[in-house]
Amino acid sequence: MQKELRIGLVGYGFMGRTHTNAYKRVNDFFPELAYRPVLQAVCGRTEDKAQAFADQWQFQSCETDWKKLIERDDIDAIDIVTPNDQHAEVAIAAAEAGKMVLCEKPLARTTEESLPMVEAVEKAGVPNTVWYNYRRVPAVTLAKQIIDSGKLGKIFHYRANFLQDWTINSDLPQGGAALWRLDAKAAGSGVTGDLLAHCIDTALWLNGSIKDVSAVTETFVKERMHNLTGKVEKVGIDDACLFHCHFENGSLGLFESTRYARGHKALYTFEINGENASIRWDLHDLNRLEYFDHSDESIVRGWRTIHITDGDQPYMDHYWVPGLCIGYEHTFVNQVADFLKSLETGEPCHPTFRDALETAQVCDAVLKSAAERSWQSV
Ligand SMILES: NC(=O)c1ccc[n+]([C@@H]2O[C@H](COP(=O)([O-])OP(=O)(O)OC[C@H]3O[C@@H](n4cnc5c(N)ncnc54)[C@H](O)[C@@H]3O)[C@@H](O)[C@H]2O)c1
Repeated sequence: MQKELRIGLVGYGFMGRTHTNAYKRVNDFFPELAYRPVLQAVCGRTEDKAQAFADQWQFQSCETDWKKLIERDDIDAIDIVTPNDQHAEVAIAAAEAGKMVLCEKPLARTTEESLPMVEAVEKAGVPNTVWYNYRRVPAVTLAKQIIDSGKLGKIFHYRANFLQDWTINSDLPQGGAALWRLDAKAAGSGVTGDLLAHCIDTALWLNGSIKDVSAVTETFVKERMHNLTGKVEKVGIDDACLFHCHFENGSLGLFESTRYARGHKALYTFEINGENASIRWDLHDLNRLEYFDHSDESIVRGWRTIHITDGDQPYMDHYWVPGLCIGYEHTFVNQVADFLKSLETGEPCHPTFRDALETAQVCDAVLKSAAERSWQSV
């Protein structure tokens, strides 16, 4: 008999759907787990929309005030999938009420806003995790295993990109539903907190801490109509950001993100070069990991493509048969599985709030470096 983990979901947009799908499917693919998520309640500000989501995805109840959701004693875990400006208040209140907290990335808009969240979950001693889901792409997890096994040897370079093109139109307004990412008050920053945060989380996990950064940001469209005020307002987000950095292990990092790379929708890629081998990965082809091993016999030496679908590769023993792929949604299923497993073992489910604080610190250093045109220590 599995124990119930009664979920209260705050928000029901894009991530609301990915998380709900994961809660619904996790025990089908991971039957060994001792816990089973129950879709207890969804919270949204507009009752009919929240109810429509509840009906579509089979939540048992609906709330319009997250404070009421947190007060309920039939909820074990609060899952936060609202815009970034609303993570901190909800997470801190949830932790103080003794609820487990799962929070979407970035943890909050700044380090200053993130730190009290970390303190709240640690003081309350509640299980917590942040949805940097790309760690749970089997190919990325395999990259971690390969690096940890020492196959790359000393690492010299870490290179990552996250490229999109959806804000090129200068008529696109900022703010409000769907466009809160363009509003610095709601999002905190632009591509740095939204996209580079993913790249930084993966990099910290694969290659260790970042020591210092030097960055350039650009806001290509300086003013946009604001959906909430109806006025043309200054744009406060970074549309593009490039930074380079030193990692603690002595390697150099190079990162680029933009929403102005015409033709790219969500091109997250990374490449890592070590003395013995290199690895590269591309979100558009997420089941493959490219690997170059210098110790291969020279006549056949070259980049090989590993199709990550075999049962001895990360997570894949829980899905289909060798050769058959999984998708984006399974990264969230894998994260829920790891979270439920962590409740059994008592081990943290990384990235925890504290892990995500380090990403926030790097993001803050990047933005400060760009603003002050100087190197910044993390
Ligand atoms: N892990 C990832 O890859 C990934 C991808 C996309 C978004 N995100 C993160 O997830 C979060 C949500 O992004 P999204 O794309 O789902 O946004 P979205 O705009 O699709 O959904 C946001 C939801 O929050 C609701 N909401 C806003 N204020 C609320 C309040 N006070 N109470 C209750 N509900 C409220 C909105 O009605 C909407 O349902 C953001 O922090 C974002 O950075 C992460």
